[in-house]
Amino acid sequence: MERALRNGLFTLASAAFVATGFAVTRTVTIEGAGGQVSTQSPGALRDSALRVRFSHDGLVDQERAQTLALAAVATEAPTGFENLTNGFNTQGPPYESLNEDTVVPLRSFNDNRFIFEEVETVDGGLGPTYNAQSCRECHQNVVTGGASQITEQRTGHLLNGRFFESQGGSLIQSRGTHPDAVELVAVGDDIRTFRISTNTLGLGFVEAIANDTLTGIRDSQPLGMKGLQVIVPVLESSGRARIGRFGWKGQHASLESFAADAYLNEMGITSPLFPTENTISGGEVAPYDPVADPEDDGQDVLAFANFMRSTRAPSRGPITADVLAGEQIFTRLGCSICHVASITTAVPGTVINGGAMTVPAALGSKIIHAYGDFLLHNIGTGDGIPIQPTLEYAPTANRIRTAPLWGLRTRNRLMHDGLSFTREEAIARHAGQAAPVTLRYQSLAVSDKAKLVAFLNSL
Ligand code: HEC
Ligand code: HEC
Repeated sequence: MERALRNGLFTLASAAFVATGFAVTRTVTIEGAGGQVSTQSPGALRDSALRVRFSHDGLVDQERAQTLALAAVATEAPTGFENLTNGFNTQGPPYESLNEDTVVPLRSFNDNRFIFEEVETVDGGLGPTYNAQSCRECHQNVVTGGASQITEQRTGHLLNGRFFESQGGSLIQSRGTHPDAVELVAVGDDIRTFRISTNTLGLGFVEAIANDTLTGIRDSQPLGMKGLQVIVPVLESSGRARIGRFGWKGQHASLESFAADAYLNEMGITSPLFPTENTISGGEVAPYDPVADPEDDGQDVLAFANFMRSTRAPSRGPITADVLAGEQIFTRLGCSICHVASITTAVPGTVINGGAMTVPAALGSKIIHAYGDFLLHNIGTGDGIPIQPTLEYAPTANRIRTAPLWGLRTRNRLMHDGLSFTREEAIARHAGQAAPVTLRYQSLAVSDKAKLVAFLNSL
């Protein structure tokens, strides 16, 4: 398969990063010449392991659609909030018939849904620091896999213009398996944000979008509104580079990588892709960590990924005359430059995820309406926290992925921080790259604004 060098700057930065094993340490830990870290504290060790893990080879596969003729037969992706498979896995035995003894991970959609909903305890590896006991706790509305109102805290600080994560990572785990295992926010960590839980329904289709397609979208955007594509490692293919598309910062490109990350960072469960436990604000976890790592052999992680790959995309609400008129206004204003209405996934047989996955018939040549471009933009809402505190990811500090608007009618807390209560408030916060569009919105007649919102509420 053809591989192309992209993003010269990023590639150079990451090559240097790989070559020197450059570990960014926070606060005042001494970073000696040559990158040696003099204090091998648990926090420093965890950080350097993570930086190495989060390095990539800089070579992005085009994943280009093989023939135009095949692409032309693309069909609509299945949608719905009914706990039904999209065909990636079979539906499986009746969900109600499954329990701890009868569930067979990876067998079917229903089996994998059971694993996604499973509540973890200390014996299963939960913690020592964690945010919740089950993926479903944060990804459920109106069915398992949906977005929710649960937010997380991320914090850090700037020192001489450089970003440093909080001790123990920018994600502050808000629960612990012991009272002393809960992370508290340090006074000096004055860069603070909430990040709200996003939707995972239909994400198999997003994973199946070719890199080239995302680059094409970026290239078609006008200069002042161009999105940033972030190159991230696909962990299950030993760090092969791919365009990130998942999470508020596009921090992962594959669902298996994201699931492994979430298992560790949300639930404290280590797996082969993330074998090192999180620290407690940089401190030792051993006294609170009775289960040997990796706590999951990788099977749960794959079950989560396959569950998400099997979900149908969010469906639309009733399409009224106002909704149709509202969509025209949405397009005319330029909202759809970032909130892209339709994307077609790569043709079946395309090799993606750095070689780790081949697009199956259920996910390939499918038209989705995510109303997003899976690129990052600076619309003045940046939370100041980059994907990693490295030179390569510095541009992600104040950019946020265009929020995909599918499923919007199921959400009443908007934007990355969940702090916008209404659609109108969310639109009003669009500045920076979206400023010209927001200006056009503001000069709309009241009735047109209402139609635009009617359209948003149909998504
Ligand atoms: C404590 C709440 C919480 C739990 C538990 C949780 N998540 Fe998430 N999830 C989030 C939040 C918040 C985000 C957005 C985070 C970000 O991008 O900074 C997210 C984002 C995601 C995304 C990216 C979706 C997108 O918009 O591209 C995936 C995939 C995901 N989670 C999978 C999982 C899996 C699998 C599990 C279980 C192992 C899990 N999550 C557990 C809160 C949670
Ligand atoms: C330059 C790109 C861009 C343009 C143009 C744009 N948006 Fe957005 N939109 C974003 C980004 C980025 C976010 C996420 C920002 C955040 O969470 O901080 C977002 C978030 C949203 C949200 C919140 C969704 C959620 O799930 O929380 C809504 C609603 C929205 N946009 C509607 C619109 C409408 C309507 C227009 C046109 C008037 C528009 N946007 C124009 C980039 C854009």
